[in-house]
Amino acid sequence: MSILKIGLFGFGCVGTGLYQVLNQTNQLNARIHKIVAKNPHKTRSIQDVEILFDPDAILNDPEINVVVELINSSEEAYQLVKEALKRKKNVVTANKKLIAEHFAELIDLAKENRVSLLYEAAVAGSIPIIRNLEEYYNNDTLSRIEGIVNGTTNYILTQANNGISYEDALQDAQEKGFAEADPTLDVDGFDAKFKLVLLLKHAFGLTIKPERLLNIGIRNLKLKDVQFANEKGWRIKLFAKAIKRDNGLIAFVAPQLITKDHSSFHVDDEFNAVLVQAAFADKQLFYGKGAGSFPTASAVLSDISALQYNYQYEYRKSASNILELEDDFSLKVYIGSENASSLYDIDFEEIDDIFIGKNYSYRIGNVKFQTIKNIDWNKRSDMSLLLLPEELIEQKSLKSGYNELNINQN
Ligand SMILES: NC(=O)c1ccc[n+]([C@@H]2O[C@H](COP(=O)([O-])OP(=O)(O)OC[C@H]3O[C@@H](n4cnc5c(N)ncnc54)[C@H](OP(=O)(O)O)[C@@H]3O)[C@@H](O)[C@H]2O)c1
Repeated sequence: MSILKIGLFGFGCVGTGLYQVLNQTNQLNARIHKIVAKNPHKTRSIQDVEILFDPDAILNDPEINVVVELINSSEEAYQLVKEALKRKKNVVTANKKLIAEHFAELIDLAKENRVSLLYEAAVAGSIPIIRNLEEYYNNDTLSRIEGIVNGTTNYILTQANNGISYEDALQDAQEKGFAEADPTLDVDGFDAKFKLVLLLKHAFGLTIKPERLLNIGIRNLKLKDVQFANEKGWRIKLFAKAIKRDNGLIAFVAPQLITKDHSSFHVDDEFNAVLVQAAFADKQLFYGKGAGSFPTASAVLSDISALQYNYQYEYRKSASNILELEDDFSLKVYIGSENASSLYDIDFEEIDDIFIGKNYSYRIGNVKFQTIKNIDWNKRSDMSLLLLPEELIEQKSLKSGYNELNINQN
């Protein structure tokens, strides 16, 4: 491709970051031709650039061959990206919700119009995971992906691990600009789920609607749950997880207890990490900044740079995919509550440990995923669920009745 003439939608945190990053990247044959934002009355941190407010200024400009979409509404982004692709413009976006919700349609549209649709920045900010899954792991069979892909929840959990309550940690994250005023998408695991949809596509070739994946967040974690983790020397992390089993794929978002020797044990604050397990390469951890103006802009820059050689995702794994989402398995879980009677709402297949206290109780044991899936955990403020470090129960190890039952009471 000759010179890349960019039409940039959005001039907020990532948009201004990209503007500055591009200004410091002389070797790239790309320049921002036009910028379109939303609010004409806003005072801008960068003032020596012309900002337009009519999307057609970009969409109708035949000279613009790359649209970079960095706005904060996935519905409006959907319209802009669709139009841009129809007008045969390459698109780079950082919007995971947009891609996760309209994956098949947008891929088809890009293909039909023979243009590229790239979105490295949409998963784990600066971490180059999408292109690595697509290219580097093209022939190595992947068995597991485990990602801390949401910086807001990781920041809150890091604070919680230090004894700060969920409410105080959330407020701190909001004051520092890591969390939105309405934190639902982050703390209830939706953001991580959108990213998991993208990971599933590039790691395993599975195209799946986000509604089909379970997301359990961290909203209902109590200090007692964190104390339980601390007493064991464990930490709590929110994972977007995919595990391959025969022709099935297990995939969901949930908080998990991890031991000191887990590679993500020291992934703290707003950092992200994606653990990839492959047949030949074994385990590899991708670690870096999952958000922020420059880190996210660096991933957008990398996509723009790839357009210089007409790079497109080929989705080769989708062509041969035979994997289906599986829900016939059991997980080893800790379920805690301030109200012991709530714990009896959950049907355990096998119980390893019970603690019943005056203000706090828990049960640990095996629960069928179908049982877990049928509960709206984000709305159950009376209970918290954590996966145990060895979360997956293989069917052969299942016995009926209570096993190694310990009942503690105080
Ligand atoms: N921030 C991060 O660290 C991060 C990390 C990874 C991915 N992302 C993704 O990157 C994207 C941008 O995030 P951000 O943090 O940069 O958002 P932001 O700071 O809130 O900025 C959003 C920008 O979009 C503009 N905008 C909104 N609607 C528009 C429309 N219809 N047409 C044109 N411009 C419009 C706003 O215009 P005004 O300035 O006029 O209000 C603003 O400049 C999102 O998809 C986000 O999920 C962000």
